[in-house]
Amino acid sequence: MVISGKTQVCGLIGDPVEHSMSPVMHNASYQKLGLDYIYLPFRVKKENLSRAISGMQALNIRGLNITIPHKAAVLPFLNKVDALALKIGAVNTIVNDKGVLTGYNTDAEGFLNALHERRVSVDRKKAVIIGAGGAARAIAFALMDKGTNVYIHNRSQERAKVLAGELIDTFNRRVEIFPLEKDYLLKSLKSVDLLINTTSVGMSPEINDTPIPTELLKPGLVIFDVVYNPLRTRLLIDGEAAGAMTISGIEMLVFQGAVAFEKFTGQKAPVALMKEKAIQQLEKLNDFS
Ligand SMILES: NC(=O)c1ccc[n+]([C@@H]2O[C@H](COP(=O)([O-])OP(=O)(O)OC[C@H]3O[C@@H](n4cnc5c(N)ncnc54)[C@H](OP(=O)(O)O)[C@@H]3O)[C@@H](O)[C@H]2O)c1
Repeated sequence: MVISGKTQVCGLIGDPVEHSMSPVMHNASYQKLGLDYIYLPFRVKKENLSRAISGMQALNIRGLNITIPHKAAVLPFLNKVDALALKIGAVNTIVNDKGVLTGYNTDAEGFLNALHERRVSVDRKKAVIIGAGGAARAIAFALMDKGTNVYIHNRSQERAKVLAGELIDTFNRRVEIFPLEKDYLLKSLKSVDLLINTTSVGMSPEINDTPIPTELLKPGLVIFDVVYNPLRTRLLIDGEAAGAMTISGIEMLVFQGAVAFEKFTGQKAPVALMKEKAIQQLEKLNDFS
């Protein structure tokens, strides 16, 4: 790869960024499509966020992905924010068009695209979301925006109440919240179409943990676990054994990257390659840990 004066620069800002899979996904895709682009990780501390965004304009950086802890804090520094990202109150992708910065939430789009790819429709369906943190937020807003009815189970009721309140204010529809306990889950899961784990329960190294007792899983259910390390979580293994359709968090990760890639380059993303590279990188990280 030859870097020249014409090379377009993209990247990721967050803290930490060392374990991100985005650089390998994007750089391999630029190479495959012969695009004169490069993607770099930038560790940016909270107190330097506004200067980093000014720097994006000053240095003519074409696009940035935004990760923890900047996804909400970055909003005031943008010129425009996409309607869904504005509702969510979080941005994970910024595109720089001749100095005009527009923010998007490709986590939400990536989640919906991962479902679409598996031909799972969400319109007027019922979804149980486990968790009420950042990932839950993007997913709940994305689903409600598509007409899905959402039920939230979270360990902290306070946090679930805040999220549900914002969803109700935005969409003017009912959202129910429950504790993350077996009896409540049993009730919610009776007539549910889609079950989404957005908590970190089951994430490496606690790979034997699951947020849902196995006996509650059943055929006909679509189970989406946003955790991507391991690729097959305990929840997905249990779900598969119970005859459910299962989708790994790696799909959401890859599709959010693919949507960002398309916004940065205007080209269709090589999704299969992005997935292959993300999985390779994950395996490498696991080998070193
Ligand atoms: N696949 C993707 O593209 C993608 C994208 C974003 C995030 N993720 C993954 O999603 C997970 C959550 O990320 P986040 O940014 O949403 O984190 P977050 O904002 O910190 O929220 C964490 C959520 O997990 C719950 N939780 C944590 N430990 C728990 C436990 N032991 N028992 C029950 N609930 C527990 C929290 O409940 P309380 O409110 O009660 O604390 C909260 O609902 C992570 O594993 C992350 O890697 C994946």
